Amino acid sequence: MDFKKHPPKTFKDLDKMSKEEARKEVEALREGIDYHDYLYYVKNQPEISDALYDKLFGRLQDLEQAFPELRSDTSPTQRVGATPVSELKKVEHTVPMLSLNAALEQAEVKNFYDFIQRRTKGSKTAFVLEPKFDGFSVELVYEGGELRYGATRGDGEVGEDITHNVKTISSVPLHLRKKKDVPAFLSVRGEVFMPKKGFQQLNKRRIENGEEPFANPRNAAAGTMRQLDPQQVADKPLDILFYEILYVVDHQPASHWEDLKRLPQWGLKTDTHNTRAESLKDIQTYHERLAEKRDEFEYDIDGIVIKLDRYEQREQLGVRQRSPRWAFAWKFPPKEEVTSLEDIVVQVGRTGVLTPVALLQPVDVGGVTVSRATLHNEDEVKKKDVRCGDKVRVARAGDVIPEVMERIKEPGKKRQKPFSMPDTCPACAARVYKEGAYYFCSGRLTCPPQVIGGIVHYASREALNIEGLGEKTAEDMFKKGLVKDISGLYGLGKEDLLQLDEFAEKSAGQLYEAIQKTKNPKLDRFLYALGIRHVGRRIAQILAQHFRRFEDLKKADKEAIAEIPEIGPEIADSVSEFFAQKENRKVLKNLKQAGVVVQDLKTKKQAQTLEGKTFVFTGKLNEYTRQEAQDLVEALGGRATSSVSSETDYVVAGEDPGGKYDEARNQNVTIMDEKEFKKLVSS
Ligand code: IVH
Repeated sequence: MDFKKHPPKTFKDLDKMSKEEARKEVEALREGIDYHDYLYYVKNQPEISDALYDKLFGRLQDLEQAFPELRSDTSPTQRVGATPVSELKKVEHTVPMLSLNAALEQAEVKNFYDFIQRRTKGSKTAFVLEPKFDGFSVELVYEGGELRYGATRGDGEVGEDITHNVKTISSVPLHLRKKKDVPAFLSVRGEVFMPKKGFQQLNKRRIENGEEPFANPRNAAAGTMRQLDPQQVADKPLDILFYEILYVVDHQPASHWEDLKRLPQWGLKTDTHNTRAESLKDIQTYHERLAEKRDEFEYDIDGIVIKLDRYEQREQLGVRQRSPRWAFAWKFPPKEEVTSLEDIVVQVGRTGVLTPVALLQPVDVGGVTVSRATLHNEDEVKKKDVRCGDKVRVARAGDVIPEVMERIKEPGKKRQKPFSMPDTCPACAARVYKEGAYYFCSGRLTCPPQVIGGIVHYASREALNIEGLGEKTAEDMFKKGLVKDISGLYGLGKEDLLQLDEFAEKSAGQLYEAIQKTKNPKLDRFLYALGIRHVGRRIAQILAQHFRRFEDLKKADKEAIAEIPEIGPEIADSVSEFFAQKENRKVLKNLKQAGVVVQDLKTKKQAQTLEGKTFVFTGKLNEYTRQEAQDLVEALGGRATSSVSSETDYVVAGEDPGGKYDEARNQNVTIMDEKEFKKLVSS
């Protein structure tokens, strides 16, 4: 069967097929689809019609459905198949993902060039020149030619596992092409990006749907790649280009240039503008040419990268402070345009901060239409002395929100009055106060953006983790008058939740449960969830450890709080002020009345009744979340592990226990139900 060159137009009936026949066809289809993906996405030269492609794809789906034993994670049907992950797991990179020394100035490039000449004296040097893609850097690992995982750069040593997302990018091969001897192990670095055209369309759609547009293609790519749900990624127009082999087994080329030619043979797309050069003059010409052509590129580039070609010479030079000495990024000057400033409006953020925003006559800056630019704060507006009606220079540095750089003087023109911050909040009319360079709205609990922001924060993963309660839902709840503050969440019945946009029986039930489950929050989480200014997760933990009981913290005065090492006067002020405010006390009282009981830390050191005992949990518990149960075991001196082994003393089985239950039985480990567990921990 050959689905590459001569794909059939009709297929045999599924129910007349033997398993062996199906297996052969599945293999041929996968190979065929991989091949046509390669032609379409990597080579840009499709050989079959979209309709025929869809037919092959549909046939493969049918076969995998009829013969589930033939399913595979690296089947082309599984690009979007993965279920959402609950968090991004950490992964250590095969070798560190370094960053680049960079500069705008030609003189620094000359220094780099001269430095290389000195260090490699005697031997000839050649360079590879590449565009500097303005996207999101990733590592992909192939083992035996199959995609094993994809990871973000993270801190360069450890990144996050985003396999579920990279698989959805059509130009990422799930298998390396078999033509050229595929290496046993290959770790390769590339840049995920959103082509400009796709970016514009996506933003248009987002604005129409009332969603916040992405600031630029790079943010869009980065934000998308860190999503938990691959469905959210699959519908975004992402692409990838590869530019470095990080580590490879079974393959020893002498130079980067040879590798760049090898990558596409494996199906890994490289950029067509890559070139080789020897002299500084050639480098300058390339930089100039790309800077001129920049707007014609289908994706954002923000400079060129100059890399020493020969690996032997690269090794001679080595790495300094996480950047290789053998490579250099020569950036392009930032994009700027002149336009007129039509108005300055004040936006209220979720923390209550007031930000002046310039509304501009829309202008194309480096391929992106800019119609708003941040002015940061009042001082900034004063310093730049920009007013409505002025001509201004705006810049988009490729990676940041557009900014008003300066006013263009227009002698003789009559100007409008200087801008000043309003005395009252534009969102809720409460009084405005100043802290440092910023103005804040004082209507913390009544100001719509702040209330909505407060609910979103309360429900966020690091706070009380109420799944299904994101920004849109919180906004909808507030606008429909279902909640006025966080305490209102607990008064919501399923019927109330059904009034929300996009909520149906099942989702309303799930959100209801998710809210109810948070009635017994741990002290540190709860403190963080309250969204007290300056109280992040770490400070919340310090406060919880110190006071141990919520009531004690609530009563503590500023001095008592400030005595805690690591807590400065500003935080102490903010915490005591929060608990002193009448409105906040009311919300806390309402929370209590709604049945929210904060779990205090035990005042005395717990008796270590479970010392030396190892627990494994399986199935759903009713009274505890898995985390709470594990914390409890640990607080009593025991250990909680995730799999049953010879060291396991108890397996606690909740509802619908999994395979660990059977394992426990096989290994004769004591099994207890939730009731028995509760008795054990409270005795
Ligand atoms: S090579 C050791 N090549 O620029 C060399 N990087 O800090 C490592 N980038 O995070 C990078 N285009 O995401 C290289 N052609 C290119 C690149 C490139 C864009 C990014 C990369 C990195 C950043 C530099």
